[in-house]
Amino acid sequence: MSDTVAGLLAEIADVGRDPQRGGYSRLVHSSAEHELREWFVAHAERRGLEVEVDRNGAIWAWHAPGGSRDDAVVTGSHLDSVPGGGAYDGPLGVVAALVAVDLLRERGALGERPLAVTVFPEEEGSRFGVACLGSRLMTGAISPDRARALTDVDGRTFAEVVAAGGLDPERLGPDREALGRMAAFVEVHVEQGRGLVDLDRPIAVASSILGHGRWRVSITGEGNHAGTTLMADRRDPMVATGRLVAAIRDLARRHPGARATVGRLVPTPGGTNVIASRVDAWVDVRHPDDVVTNVVVEQIREAASLLAAEEGCAATMVEESFSPTVDFDAGLRDSLAATLGDAPVLGTGAGHDAGILKDHVPTAMLFVRNPTGVSHAPGEHVDDADAEEGAGALADALEHLLQLGADSRT
Ligand code: GLV
Ligand code: MN
Ligand code: MN
Repeated sequence: MSDTVAGLLAEIADVGRDPQRGGYSRLVHSSAEHELREWFVAHAERRGLEVEVDRNGAIWAWHAPGGSRDDAVVTGSHLDSVPGGGAYDGPLGVVAALVAVDLLRERGALGERPLAVTVFPEEEGSRFGVACLGSRLMTGAISPDRARALTDVDGRTFAEVVAAGGLDPERLGPDREALGRMAAFVEVHVEQGRGLVDLDRPIAVASSILGHGRWRVSITGEGNHAGTTLMADRRDPMVATGRLVAAIRDLARRHPGARATVGRLVPTPGGTNVIASRVDAWVDVRHPDDVVTNVVVEQIREAASLLAAEEGCAATMVEESFSPTVDFDAGLRDSLAATLGDAPVLGTGAGHDAGILKDHVPTAMLFVRNPTGVSHAPGEHVDDADAEEGAGALADALEHLLQLGADSRT
């Protein structure tokens, strides 16, 4: 009896559960993420796939009967999560890929052409701040020097952490060989909204990804005693930050389609009876038009300077990462929608490795219905029947791509 998506997800249901936040915290290079990677490798090997880890830490599980890995059709997703995330964002795409390999084998559709299942590391950027770090490194969208120097909350560098995980940090960086062998990439993902619920359909093909980026606003003031410092004598960066959070919400509302979020505040030193000396606010800004994103960011920068000055503080704002709006390959999108019984075509506000790969490889995504519409939170959900439908749709898409042969290159 073959594996089902629900059965495979049940096997990892206890890995990385977060009792404090709820849901899952599977940060890159945590013990939970390592356990998931080992679990994936075991399942890949059970299927006779040859496993390799590339120099940026992505896992590739190959069906390459003739030994050649060129002109490969590739599918996959990620196993890391946001802090307190849901069970499906990432793992659904990985597990659907394993089940799709089974389905293709049952159909006799795994031919001579190479097919790979990949797992990209640090897609969420939850530990080192930059989302899609593995695919950015592979494509050269981030320099290896900058990636090596990124730090986690404990001040450990990415270089140190990957070295502890068995990778050589000096070998991080653009991997033209890995990219060049991909003829097409398709990622299955839980939908992060209610588009499919509203359409009463289980599967969609992606049209676009909203441009998005992360900026870090640091407001510095004067650390002091909460009891002995008179209100008139304070230079409190937490007050300036609080006012800034509300200002960001208000100014994003003035730009239709914009989304701006402050999801993480890091006060230094972070004591209840201490006026902070500094607060770092991580700001996520998204809009379909990258010009508007830039306008929103500049308005946030001005508001930060103004509000910091009003509180006797100073502000700086630096870009941590930016991903322009992505329109997926129209030919591939339409041919997959037709292959999948006229599947609806939907855009998304969430970022993905597929969005980073898109400028280098013909790339597509399939979304699976999420009845709650919730994502990056424990309430994210996929019904078992839809999860199996997702794997079936992926198998159909892969079979179509395998048949396209070298024509799938654009
Ligand atoms: C990742 O899911 C993102 O959209 O930030
Ligand atoms: Mn996500
Ligand atoms: Mn994801």
